[in-house]
Amino acid sequence: LRPAVLLSAISRLISAASRLQEICEQPEVLENAMRGRVTNRHSAGSRGCREMAERWPRAPRIIVVACGTSHHAGLIGEYLLENLAGCSRDAAEMMPCEVEYASEFRYRNPILCREDVLIAISQSGETADTRSRRRRSGKSARRLCLGICNTVGSSIARETDGGVYLHAGPEIGVASTKAFSAPAGRADTDLRRRGNPCELGAMLALPDQLRFVLEQKGTVYEMAKGTVYEMAKVFKYASNFLFLGRGYHYPLKEISYIHAEGYPAAEMKHGPIALIDQFMPVVIIAPTSDPNYRKLVSNIEEASAHGGGGAVRARGGSVIAITEEDNHELDEQCEYVMRVPSTADFLMPLLCVAPLQLMAYYIADMRQCNVDQPRNLAKSVTVE
Ligand code: G6P
Repeated sequence: LRPAVLLSAISRLISAASRLQEICEQPEVLENAMRGRVTNRHSAGSRGCREMAERWPRAPRIIVVACGTSHHAGLIGEYLLENLAGCSRDAAEMMPCEVEYASEFRYRNPILCREDVLIAISQSGETADTRSRRRRSGKSARRLCLGICNTVGSSIARETDGGVYLHAGPEIGVASTKAFSAPAGRADTDLRRRGNPCELGAMLALPDQLRFVLEQKGTVYEMAKGTVYEMAKVFKYASNFLFLGRGYHYPLKEISYIHAEGYPAAEMKHGPIALIDQFMPVVIIAPTSDPNYRKLVSNIEEASAHGGGGAVRARGGSVIAITEEDNHELDEQCEYVMRVPSTADFLMPLLCVAPLQLMAYYIADMRQCNVDQPRNLAKSVTVE
């Protein structure tokens, strides 16, 4: 072996190991995100968050700005905010929420009220687009700007009026993993204004459930056929992946040097269905507790009533489903079925994302890609 080849092989192995480590650290990251905030089934909250909430009791709207994976975490946050905090019967307490790409938001002229609250989500706290929006529309307009950041003392943490840290620890891998789980976990924690014992209990159980999912690591995963690792071997040469889900699950999307598109499952019939063939694997996130579970099953198996569009399976696509433990209904129709433990619906994305991260990791590793440093990407984008 020539030294350069050896060095590159070693660096690839080290980088793959650290990425896998970051994926596996997520249960601990969730524990850290909740530590001191959810201590039992009857109370939740933090002083910082209570102070923040006191400052926006009449906010007509919450606008989340973020880039990349933080934007995806924000999309789940939007469902959380509207479902958990916005479901009050008292109109004054309702909190509509919008999530914007920071890069677009900074250059358009959005109609903002003075009382609107901006929340910037950023792992690094240094992303130029996310920072700039705070400078343009926040401080000068005296609009309340909050930050959800991982890096302590970062620019966004310093420039915002308040906020929370994720405490996810340093994240080395360019493609975010644990810093994706932390904001979602954190939002769950901080928005429990009226502690619901069932939901708080589900949150407390979540780190162990995630640990259980990750400990399978694709070796003993109970699946219709084979393991996550074997599945990765089958799909490693795919050039596209389609991810379908509804509600909380539609924003989930993973990359592993393969083009991947996340779509609300019901939108499939309006376009993406035309792309599905045997070369386009489709991942459908279909927990049985999803209020639209039966519709997700139809996406897999039934012909669409409109326009004669066939379901995924009818089009010859490979279907990989993620569902809840004990559900074997999809085994016949799907090539692979990954099962995760049952939990409250709003926590499900945090369990469903784990097998997808492992699949992305294995595929990237099998394709001999540098998992931590994908070409042309930087961990923190501090320029436009
Ligand atoms: C870069 C990274 C992404 C990250 C995005 C936002 O593009 O490659 O992985 O999600 O920046 O970073 P932030 O630090 O603001 O969360």
